[in-house]
Parts: sequence; structure tokens; C-alpha cells
Amino acid sequence: VSAFAPTNIALIKYWGKRNQELNLPITNSLSFALPVGTTTSLSSHQDHDVVTLNGTLQGHDSAFTKRLVNFVNKFRPHNSFLKIDTVNQIPTAAGLASSASGFAALTLAMNELFNWKRSPHELSIIARQGSGSACRSLFSGFVEWHKGSQDNGEDSFAEPLNILWPEFKMGLWIFSEKEKPIDSRKAMQQTVATSPLFSAWPEIVASDLAKMRQALIEHNFSQVGEIAEHNALSMHAMMMGATPPILYWLKESVEAMHQVWRLRKTGVEVYFTMDAGPNLKLIYLEETKPLLQRLLPHANLILF
Ligand code: PMV
Repeated sequence: VSAFAPTNIALIKYWGKRNQELNLPITNSLSFALPVGTTTSLSSHQDHDVVTLNGTLQGHDSAFTKRLVNFVNKFRPHNSFLKIDTVNQIPTAAGLASSASGFAALTLAMNELFNWKRSPHELSIIARQGSGSACRSLFSGFVEWHKGSQDNGEDSFAEPLNILWPEFKMGLWIFSEKEKPIDSRKAMQQTVATSPLFSAWPEIVASDLAKMRQALIEHNFSQVGEIAEHNALSMHAMMMGATPPILYWLKESVEAMHQVWRLRKTGVEVYFTMDAGPNLKLIYLEETKPLLQRLLPHANLILF
């Protein structure tokens, strides 16, 4: 069987867990799905698991294999072995959210192979246990992840928002495809445990989220962009306040932020957000795409 799930990029970020094992978040979050993602093929295998990534066999002891096998172990029938083939359309682990689409696609493929017949809602709860943000990759468009309050995580799931906005786009501005120096799991823990700025985060998210929902309903593009930038920069600020500090930015990231702000001053409606990596995600309307390509001719852009 084979299944596809889209990459999602958060406009309102998830950063900080109340339960490490089940990936239960401290706040809600809200994302947008890209038209690219991960395709995972799954078949039964004789007496051991086989894992490939973009066509290359992964060792038993590799971090990638261990993470996938730990995840499927929670849900597969006893004594079943799998061949898991993951194909990403975007670089793995470069802060481009490939783990989200990866675990979502794997969950969809398991649903097929084991004939679970679970609803997208239930599959979202399962995918969440692979990588928190994966619960949002079960859906396209704008998606909200409800943090839930139960200890078992049964009320922590994502659902699509009823917002149709085909002109709304997000693209990538890539400076580095290297693995990030610190993964999001560890970085979140370090932030929650040591950053004095973390105490302000739940309130920042609550306020940004309420404004973001309204701006999306109204198709108020500049509001959406401004809130997204504010939310991403607030998340990075609290990471910088951790001990030791967490700074994903490269000098190119900072230059690019200034470039985006300069473009806005000249009337080009483009905004950015950033995740656990040095790359920028651009937020724009379809009509602006040719202009961005013309005004940033040397940038490594992937625009949709
Ligand atoms: O799901 P994880 O562990 O890859 O964490 C995702 C964290 C951010 O991408 C920075 C924010 C988000 O909401 O996607």
C-alpha cells in the first residue's frame, strides 16, 4: 500500500510539550499544508523490518530507522514485520517539517495495510505520537491542532478549518539543507525547562491564535502575515532565552528577514515564518509569485 501526506507549516507555532511520550502540547497551533510532502509505501516483510529513505537502505541502528520502528511498534500486530519506503519531496530534517508529513503518510499507510478503517480524526491522534506536528499533516489547507486536556491524549488532535483561500501560498527560501544542530524534541525540552521567557508563551499563542483565526476568515492577508511573523519571532526569542541558548538562525536567515521587510516597504506583500532550522518560509498571494522570483533572482526559492 502507498499513502501521501502533505508537509505543513505552522502560522501559529507548537513549541513545548506537557507529555514527552505522547507528544501532548502545552498550546494549540495552526498550520497551512503545502502541495508537497511524503509518500510512504508499506508491505509485509518476512522476519525483520526494512527501512529505506528516498530509495536508500537505512541501517538498523540509524536514528531514522529507530524512530520509525519505535512508532510502528506501538500500533502494529505482534510478530509482523514491515518494509517501509519513505520518499520525501523536500529535504529531510532541515527544519522543513518532513517528519510531520512522514509520520502522517506512515499512519495512513498503516491504516490501509492493517485495514483499521479509522477516521482522519483518529489517525491524527496516532500520527501525533510519531511527531507532534504530524497530526496536522492528515489534512490539507488550514488546520488547527487542539491541545486537549486529557492525560491519555485522546482529545489532542487536529482538524481542518473551514477556510477556502486558494490564492494563499507558502514557499521556501533555503540556505542550508544540513541536519539541524539540535532536534525539536530536545530544543523544546530545553526551552520549557530553562527559558524564563517560556511563561509568556501560552498567552502569546492564545492571543495570536484568536487574531489569526479572524484574519483567515476575513482573508485579511497583511494581518495573517504580521501575526505569523510575530508568532515565529516570539518563539525564537524564547529559545534564545534558554540555557544553553538555542539559535537556529544563520547570517543568511537574518539577511533574508531584512530583505523581506525591505520588499514590504516597497509595496511587495510578502511575510515570513521560521521553524527549527535556518530556512525561511515565505507567505504570499499567488499574484505575487512572479514578482518574488524577479526581485530575488539569486535566492534558492521553492515557490508554489
Ligand atoms: O513536531 P515536531 O517535533 O517536529 O515540532 C515542530 C515544531 C515547529 O515546526 C517549530 C513548530 C510547528 O508547530 O510546526
